[in-house]
Amino acid sequence: MLQFQYQITATVTVFLGIVLSFATTGIAGRTSTYIRSQWPSSDIPLNDDVFAVPKGLNAPQQVHITQGDYDGKAVIISWVTPNEAGSSEVEYGTSEENYAFSAHGTVKSYTFYNYTSGFIHHCLVDGLEYDTKYYYKIGVDESAREFWFRTPPKIDPDAPYTFGIIGDLGQTYNSLSTLEHYMESGGQTVLFLGDLSYADRYKYDNIGVRWDSWGRFVERSAAYQPWIWSAGNHEIEYMPNIGEVFPFKAYLHRFPTPYMASNSSSPLWYAVRRASAHIIVLSSYSPFVKYSPQWMWLREELKKVDRTKTPWLIVLMHVPLYSSNLVHYMEGEGMRAVFESWFVQSKVDFIFAGHVHANERSYRISNIYYNLSRGDRYPVPDKSAPVYLTVGDGGNQEGLAGRFWDPQPEYSAFREASYGHSTLEIRNRTHAFYHWNRNDDGKEVPTDDVIFHNQYWASNLQRRRLKKNHSKVGGE
Ligand SMILES: *[C@@H]1O[C@H](CO)[C@@H](O)[C@H](O)[C@H]1NC(C)=O
Ligand SMILES: *[C@@H]1O[C@H](CO)[C@@H](O)[C@H](O)[C@H]1NC(C)=O
Ligand SMILES: *[C@@H]1O[C@H](CO)[C@@H](O)[C@H](O)[C@H]1NC(C)=O
Ligand SMILES: *[C@@H]1O[C@H](CO)[C@@H](O)[C@H](O)[C@H]1NC(C)=O
Ligand SMILES: *[C@@H]1O[C@H](CO)[C@@H](O)[C@H](O)[C@H]1NC(C)=O
Ligand SMILES: [Fe+2]
Repeated sequence: MLQFQYQITATVTVFLGIVLSFATTGIAGRTSTYIRSQWPSSDIPLNDDVFAVPKGLNAPQQVHITQGDYDGKAVIISWVTPNEAGSSEVEYGTSEENYAFSAHGTVKSYTFYNYTSGFIHHCLVDGLEYDTKYYYKIGVDESAREFWFRTPPKIDPDAPYTFGIIGDLGQTYNSLSTLEHYMESGGQTVLFLGDLSYADRYKYDNIGVRWDSWGRFVERSAAYQPWIWSAGNHEIEYMPNIGEVFPFKAYLHRFPTPYMASNSSSPLWYAVRRASAHIIVLSSYSPFVKYSPQWMWLREELKKVDRTKTPWLIVLMHVPLYSSNLVHYMEGEGMRAVFESWFVQSKVDFIFAGHVHANERSYRISNIYYNLSRGDRYPVPDKSAPVYLTVGDGGNQEGLAGRFWDPQPEYSAFREASYGHSTLEIRNRTHAFYHWNRNDDGKEVPTDDVIFHNQYWASNLQRRRLKKNHSKVGGE
């Protein structure tokens, strides 16, 4: 059931001498005051079953997969063997226990202060068929383990596909609740918004130990469907006091991305196309100013977007560009100032971010007309602008960010501080259903459900062209 219980009012506000009318949306924002009962914000103890080490000598653990190429015909399979390197081979095929193919990967380990990682394997499996279930096997003899995944449909403007959106997950009981709810949601691929394990809140070798436990924790989902990674501040782990000054060291060793397929020079920013979506991943904690590698790369990548093939243009980053939460307020301003005009020009559909431990959705607004001499600055309704969605409520040990600016700014459509995840269910080139799924089962306040129209195909001209073609087909 989709709920549209918002008040229908036109809000007119006078701010900085500018008269703003949000009558175009005709909908006032809502702050949900729902308070859910919650687990304490502390990490699950290491000896809990959710972190169980798989049985068998040197058995592969922390298995996870991600897209391995630009268009979805490859996956990168990653895992850790604890005692010795063992084999980096993946056997795979389209029927269970019948592995017609194999691929060879690489193995590496790293140290972090006095922690030494296990043997981290990454194996690219490519040349796959679209829309096909593959079974794969890693490890040797009695310690071998078997998993499966499904490749996406081929790139097509009407290919339906459901993405899960998770941010700031951590490894608490709330994190487990989010993960379990997500696994029931029908999501086919996770768009992960940064801040994975929160291992950096530990000391010395426990930092590495908590990366390992997190890898075992998310395996229940990440071994069976790709998680598209982006990095947050908890991945930086710049710790000069213990001699660790190489940013993103654990993250880069453990979570490979197919960055070279989109001609990026860094695993921290890249793009993939999947079904009917073009997904651009940005790094909030890497240089993005004009002429920086990330800026130059994004300028080229936006030119490659072909909305007739992948109508849904989605951008992921860690720090939100629009958020009316008191926590981390305006931390995204630097990137907003640099990239927002591109996002509006490109008619980006959605910008997903985490970082703020709450949920928020904006209207389509932009603030790109800043003029240093005239002083114009305030978000205004803009049909070409993306919708900004904050989904930083995965459930890590830092707890919720429950305080919002009051009154709710005109650009904010919905906000609530509860744990959960979102799903984006793309139906075809024109329609996508967005749900924010609160973990709690309480139904006192409906959670956020919205139907979105595609920013490219929803334009009148494109829609008329599409209709014309459809009626042509129908008449034949
Ligand atoms: C790492 O160093 C910490 C603090 O110096 C110490 O408590 C811990 O036992 C050490 N661990 C290992 C594996 O050496
Ligand atoms: C990357 O660059 C190569 C060489 O210029 C080009 O052939 C290829 O199409 C590019 N790939 C993408 C995804 O842009
Ligand atoms: C900024 O404002 C000044 C003064 O009104 C105007 O002359 C100038 O064209 C504006 N610049 C831009 C880029 O809009
Ligand atoms: C796209 O999906 C929406 C929602 O399910 C549906 O109403 C619409 O008719 C579909 N459009 C086409 C062209 O199939
Ligand atoms: C309509 O059909 C023509 C000819 O088949 C094609 O070139 C065009 O791209 C189609 N337009 C749309 C909007 O699908
Ligand atoms: Fe963060």
